[in-house]
Amino acid sequence: MKSRLSLLILLSFVLNPISWAAPQSTDTSKTEQNQAVKGAKAEKSDKAANKEKAQKPTETNGDQSKPATEEPAGKSEEKKPDESKAVENKPAEAPKPATEGASASAAPGKPVHGDANAGKGKTQTCVACHGPDGNSTVPNWPKIAGQYQDYLVKQLKDFRLGEKGPRYEPSMYGMVVNLTDQDIADLAAFYASQKQTMGKAKEEYVAIGEKIYRGGNIQTGVTACLACHGPEGIGNEAAKFPKLAGQHAVYIENQLHYFRDGKRKNSPNGMMESISHRMNDEEIKAVSSYIEGLH
Ligand code: HEC
Ligand code: HEC
Repeated sequence: MKSRLSLLILLSFVLNPISWAAPQSTDTSKTEQNQAVKGAKAEKSDKAANKEKAQKPTETNGDQSKPATEEPAGKSEEKKPDESKAVENKPAEAPKPATEGASASAAPGKPVHGDANAGKGKTQTCVACHGPDGNSTVPNWPKIAGQYQDYLVKQLKDFRLGEKGPRYEPSMYGMVVNLTDQDIADLAAFYASQKQTMGKAKEEYVAIGEKIYRGGNIQTGVTACLACHGPEGIGNEAAKFPKLAGQHAVYIENQLHYFRDGKRKNSPNGMMESISHRMNDEEIKAVSSYIEGLH
């Protein structure tokens, strides 16, 4: 019953043209939603990785005749092919939910191939806050162990854009401002390969947190989180929905406030901005605590 309800909410959310601001993305959103609803678990396949390698072999350095400021432009160029690719992948794969995540993960555009071993050697400046394996023990520093590689790359690049970027955070900006695309890819590969530790929800928040996570809030139009982040909070790699399960509640809560207040505005099509706008502080606190205990 609950999941039927959230499906309905989700559908109305998707079908409502005003909810999705970005013009080119309606189809992609649907694709993502469908995948999410089906609970397709995205596993990165070797095939996908090789494909990426083959597609983008030469972008590692600035050898191309572009100026040093190429990052932002290069980034938006990469995005378009991705999205159309995701859409075009869909029809062929629709009947096979079990495999679609794996094939669709060829879509994310990575300019360079990350090497986890090389990445490990580049973590000296990260360990102080994120821990040696990406499992931070301080609640406002996120756990990044086991997070999807493409998601990590995207966040690090967004931080690197600094104050003009969609996710400005001074301490992280300082950490990444001098990193190359290759460094970022390697670091992301390393953290993605680590195992994340789990957490616990606070008893008093479980009931309301679970209600929002699994059913959203019909009155205020909050979409159920599980629609995208999955019933177990593991997200969907192909659809670019990050893992949430086990993350520090304080960090989650901060992010929801940042999305709501416009400090963080980097979710595709403004999905998270739009959802968090409909949530009050109490709901944010409860769902954040619930997520920390999810596994
Ligand atoms: C001084 C403490 C500190 C150091 C050192 C640090 N970080 Fe962070 N990191 C943070 C904080 C705080 C955030 C959350 C920022 C926000 O709220 O937007 C964060 C966020 C992140 C995120 C986003 C996580 C997510 O789930 O979206 C990634 C990825 C990350 N850091 C990677 C790194 C890497 C790689 C390094 C080393 C190059 C590093 N950090 C060094 C404090 C730190
Ligand atoms: C329509 C799909 C969708 C729904 C529904 C959704 N999310 Fe998200 N969420 C996303 C996407 C996509 C991102 C990644 C944003 C990015 O790329 O920076 C995200 C990111 C997040 C993050 C940041 C994670 C991090 O590591 O920094 C949090 C926290 C979050 N979502 C919580 C929630 C909660 C709580 C709900 C339910 C109230 C929810 N989301 C519902 C799509 C969704």
